Amino acid sequence: MTTIKDKMNHKFRNLEGGLFLDVSKADVGSSTEEFFLAGGDNMAWADMFYPDPSIPLSVKKATLACVEEGSVSHYTLPIGLGKLREAVAKHVEKKTGLSIDPNRNVVITPGSDSGLLFAMMPFIEEGDEVLIFDPSYPSNFLNVQLLGGIPVSIPTRFDENYQISIEELEKRVTPKTKMVVLTHPNNPTTVVYRKENLIQLTKFIVEHDLVLVCDQAFEDHIYDGIEFVAPCTLPGMWERTVTVCSLSKGYGLSGYRIGYIYTNDVIMDVLYAATVNVCGAPSTISTYGAIAALEDASILPSYTTKLEKRQHTFYEMMKDIPGVKLHKSESGILAWLDIHALGSSQEVAQYIMKHANIMVNEGTPYGKEGEGYIRIVSCTFYEEKDAILRYQRIKDALIALGKEKGF
Ligand SMILES: Cc1ncc(COP(=O)(O)O)c(C=O)c1O
Repeated sequence: MTTIKDKMNHKFRNLEGGLFLDVSKADVGSSTEEFFLAGGDNMAWADMFYPDPSIPLSVKKATLACVEEGSVSHYTLPIGLGKLREAVAKHVEKKTGLSIDPNRNVVITPGSDSGLLFAMMPFIEEGDEVLIFDPSYPSNFLNVQLLGGIPVSIPTRFDENYQISIEELEKRVTPKTKMVVLTHPNNPTTVVYRKENLIQLTKFIVEHDLVLVCDQAFEDHIYDGIEFVAPCTLPGMWERTVTVCSLSKGYGLSGYRIGYIYTNDVIMDVLYAATVNVCGAPSTISTYGAIAALEDASILPSYTTKLEKRQHTFYEMMKDIPGVKLHKSESGILAWLDIHALGSSQEVAQYIMKHANIMVNEGTPYGKEGEGYIRIVSCTFYEEKDAILRYQRIKDALIALGKEKGF
């Protein structure tokens, strides 16, 4: 008799838990719930201002109106309501200068996690190799494996501010390489790849005739005047890039589960068929809220100002801790700390959990290069004073651990 596991597709058979292991595995399991119920704080979920209410008024009104006028109980269009796709197209144009057709180049997805899988699905065949910058979002590695591909890690380094090395790419490209996956800005490092670096990368992609999946979930808040360039706008890239975005991170609307993909007509035709088949239609109530968010020009600039200040405060509090190294966050709501000198990712994350009563992420799920790092979601809590109280507890714990280690 075979076991039920034996019946499983080999790509799934050895999966365990969620994306995260050990301490951070808890964030999908019951021990997390226990930790939170016992008063522990959560700075491990990339969820802006969590756990505080932070819905913009325009979004709240549109959401309530959807209930009041009754459309809440009905389907939207399978590829997403036209009005939402139009608002997305306008947003993309404002952000990138790219003029896209809301009826041919955009599909709405339930968040960008599913969007990432959909973006890869039409391309990856058994044994295809996919170049993934390391560290980066854990789904990048897992999605490729689930589709039968082979993730190939391309290391990026603290001392080079995690920019992409073409030498490292050239060393690993083979006739089986099909795709590059870029998380831009990056999660967990927060790095925004610079224009010169992206020009080199996209030349490499065109020369080797590869496909690019670009995850721009964190594109909406970039700090210190750094320029954001969307790779699909660079020469030769529109025809080979699938760009995946979300309202979760920039608008702080993770609970709405609205993301979108934009790409050329040829790829989109396939995605229209594939996503509709799996997702049905995006949530109606969330669609109303998302349209209001995209049409309210005041939300993003006010959040950027607030978050940039928060990131500076975090950096100033953490930068002189013995045994800890970090760059100032360049985007979004995260911070990435090099804690090699204090111990392993697991040891330090557990120490913070025990002594500061705060859950942060181990670096290891973000790739081989993640060992010796921790990720902290620095932009949790709406009020800066509430965040600072937690920063101080983390700082005290790291200083105490440093003392134990002889710093
Ligand atoms: C880099 C990156 N991409 C995509 C996602 C998925 O977010 P959502 O499905 O809420 O759009 C996340 C969530 O943490 C992320 O960090």
